[in-house]
Amino acid sequence: MVWDVEVKLQTRDYESHMKIKPFLTEHFFARYEFTASHLLASSDCETTSIAELLSLSGGSLADFGAVKLGYTESQGHPEYRRLVAEMYENVSADDVVILTSPVEGIYLTMQTLLEDSDEVIALSPAYDALHHVADHLCGKFALWQLVPTAAGWQMDLDRLRTLVNSKTRLIIVNFPHNPTGYQPERDELQELIEIARENDCWLFCDEIYRGLEPEFQLGAAIPSVADAYEKAIVLNGLSKTFGLPGLRAGWLVIRDGQVREELIGWKHYTTICPAAPTEYLAIQALSVRDHLAERSREMVFSNLALCSSFMERHPALFRWRPPIAGSTALVEIDMTQLGREQKQRFTSTLEYCHALAQGHGILLLPGECLGCPPRFVRIGLGREGFAEAMLAWEATLS
Ligand SMILES: Cc1ncc(COP(=O)(O)O)c(C=O)c1O
Repeated sequence: MVWDVEVKLQTRDYESHMKIKPFLTEHFFARYEFTASHLLASSDCETTSIAELLSLSGGSLADFGAVKLGYTESQGHPEYRRLVAEMYENVSADDVVILTSPVEGIYLTMQTLLEDSDEVIALSPAYDALHHVADHLCGKFALWQLVPTAAGWQMDLDRLRTLVNSKTRLIIVNFPHNPTGYQPERDELQELIEIARENDCWLFCDEIYRGLEPEFQLGAAIPSVADAYEKAIVLNGLSKTFGLPGLRAGWLVIRDGQVREELIGWKHYTTICPAAPTEYLAIQALSVRDHLAERSREMVFSNLALCSSFMERHPALFRWRPPIAGSTALVEIDMTQLGREQKQRFTSTLEYCHALAQGHGILLLPGECLGCPPRFVRIGLGREGFAEAMLAWEATLS
């Protein structure tokens, strides 16, 4: 089966800059996330408490209690930035900008880089913000589709070469990829960087799922784009791999000093500086980052094994392309088979996911939220209770 959404150059389909497309993923989660019994859609990994984090890092609640609630440094605490820089090969603490949430980094980057006369190319499907902010700001926004294969997903670098031109200011990617779990090979990443370099484009790489590669602890994972390309802006944070989304801790790596200063200028209009309690806890978390990431990897890969055997039990219903890395997978559903036994027809996965959430308290994310055709759902692999949630879902299928 082929991906039947046409890759096309999209010109803005609304008249003024006053409206941005709705953030469908957030709208969907807002409706069900805190009431559903079975969370099968989440992209973050299982979290931890403040007390547990401090006991892991050797910090204390008394020290945390002593944190002063004054303003902090706009670029972020030097120790926090030093610990972040340690996660890269060619990055110094000066290259790091601490954010008040990972998603803030997408907004700030697009505001800093883009004008009406610019063209942008973005890998698709994608986390909503990676498309909509750029699409809102630039003159022309092109989707660059990941291509489904029999067993997985692939970047079409030839296609990228036909999309890129002298007006292309920015290419937006996300590796490991949400929702497909795609991760390029080392030489594919290098070729992508070469295309950006030849065309003098910025490359924004969202690496928020970095560390969730099975081979990460062996040091065999592909390099961070921050280490490999001088015109890269790289996003990361503690929400996914490290399981701490409630901290709202994120950062950008920007090695170009001028762009970094401009971006901090935009930050003065959003959050000014990171929250002091978050900075304290983020420093604690980064001091035990390997432990936190290892815990998440174990959870993701044991849930992935359960998910694969579930998919193998239903070959007529699901087309399974197992993820290579990250905490999510994108599953294709044969909509003609769905609900057949119950004599219930669904015209789209959006309709199906609403019905599943409302009727059974099971949360899957409709692929439509991420720009997929209406026969895909995203499964999140990072949470506890996955086996029970899969059983509950399976019970609705027959
Ligand atoms: C690819 C990607 N980037 C950025 C974010 C934003 O992270 P946060 O919600 O913690 O700001 C998400 C969250 O789902 C994501 O999937």
